[in-house]
Amino acid sequence: MRVLFVTSEVCSLAKTGGLADVSRALPIALKKQDIDVRLLLPGYPSALAQVERPRAIARLAPLLGISDATLVVGRLPTSDVPVFLIDSPSLYRREGGLYLRSDGQEWPDNALRFAFLSHVGAELAMERTCLGWQPDVVHANDWHTGLLPLLLSREGGARPKTIFTVHNMAFQGNFSPEILPAIGVPADCFLSGNIEYYGQASFLKAGLCYGDRLTTVSPTYAKEVITPEFGCGLDGLLRTRSVSFSGILNGIDDASWDPASDPYLPHLFRTGDIGGKKICKAELQREFGLPVRADAPLIGFVSRLTHQKMADVILDALPLIVERDAQFVLLGQGNPELEKDFVEAQAKYPGHVAAHIAYDEALAHRLQAGSDILLAPARYEPCGLTQLYALRYGTLPVVRRTGGLADTVVDTSAATIIDRTATGFVFDNANLISLITALDRALACYMEPLIWRRLQAQAMRQDFSWRSSAAQYAAYYNDLAGAPVPRLRYHVPSEDSALQSVRQAAS
Ligand code: ADP
Ligand code: GLC
Repeated sequence: MRVLFVTSEVCSLAKTGGLADVSRALPIALKKQDIDVRLLLPGYPSALAQVERPRAIARLAPLLGISDATLVVGRLPTSDVPVFLIDSPSLYRREGGLYLRSDGQEWPDNALRFAFLSHVGAELAMERTCLGWQPDVVHANDWHTGLLPLLLSREGGARPKTIFTVHNMAFQGNFSPEILPAIGVPADCFLSGNIEYYGQASFLKAGLCYGDRLTTVSPTYAKEVITPEFGCGLDGLLRTRSVSFSGILNGIDDASWDPASDPYLPHLFRTGDIGGKKICKAELQREFGLPVRADAPLIGFVSRLTHQKMADVILDALPLIVERDAQFVLLGQGNPELEKDFVEAQAKYPGHVAAHIAYDEALAHRLQAGSDILLAPARYEPCGLTQLYALRYGTLPVVRRTGGLADTVVDTSAATIIDRTATGFVFDNANLISLITALDRALACYMEPLIWRRLQAQAMRQDFSWRSSAAQYAAYYNDLAGAPVPRLRYHVPSEDSALQSVRQAAS
């Protein structure tokens, strides 16, 4: 089984969030199941610098007016997974973020940058690059690769099948339909409504419409996104595709995130020998400039600072955390207003609140290891990985009952303490009262060392490795590879009259 795994970020080559973690750990797990999986992603400067044994293998024929692209092959660091990087200096070799300029604005040519990724994916998939390797299945991820299933669906005759995984319905890659000719997308895809989203052309909708199989990253999120509340306007489309759509829970890279061997930690620890965690806590307090107090519960938050992650509600919770004589450490970046507010809170509550506004992989590991409690609430959460890392590090998570958070954390109650299933604290409503009530339950358990140690041991024993989820993806690949090319073309009629007028104008 040969699989081309196409993604816009991969840990440790280029990362902004959980997609990068999954794009590393899942291919490594698939390799262990004897799948010949190879990655394709843009040749950002960080990726070109860090990929192991890079070698230019093909000059790509001009596509979409881009004529400076070379295909580089190398290895994903410390793994045996091959990586193809598209080295196009004009598209990807830039100072700034993967998606945003240094001033926080989107790159104005993002539609072209990610359309190009899909076009190169299609060239590789159809073996037009003559590498002597053709995938049976193409696995595309999130809006950045949404055009790839569309492009492959238009190939005549035999072609690799596609599986499209959506990691977050809120990020859609919506652009003006005027750009369609420049990004090589035929007008009929828009006029039929198949990629049209409120008058715009949606890369995410393209993936959801044309993927032969669709997945998302947890069973609960798969149920949520077919409702208007969570579907971000695409729930109707997902309902029409429900036979081909399911949720597969993300796993974690249990080699990189292992408190018994993590090179970033000041002291290692493991289930049954958790003493080293106390040293990690003291070092973390020191690193954040807080008083080193073993008695004060240390509450961590490592996250993008956004509305999704309820960072605004956590900010409102800070005075209550201080009132309870607990400490709070934050590692995050995102919304500039929230960044400023957290820095101000640090000045307002010295000795209790410390905020590090940055992206720092090593510190994220130390925060997970040194905290007693991790706040990981969310208004919605497709899967969430930080709560899984917390569980593995004996740091009990406080989460909201939504998406993957609901699937991975078992709330603590008298019954779940007795039957040894409790692993954290779960609340229902996305507001301050609900959050603080759950946090108070966590703090009450923290004051009972015997109960706390029992909960920690139970959390650390959970198996969130990729083994079983990778096997589910492998089963889908096998089904797809054995199936005939589907003839069905999904036509999604639109009822929005504004859209009708855009359509008329376009035609
Ligand atoms: P999302 O992808 O929605 O941001 P996840 O929980 O799936 O949420 O994944 C977040 C990933 O990004 C985790 O690996 C987490 O440790 C990491 N992360 C988030 N913010 C930071 C930060 N400021 N510094 C380092 N790592 C971070
Ligand atoms: C997205 C989601 C997050 C998920 C990650 C990896 O960033 O927001 O919930 O864990 O993708 O699938």
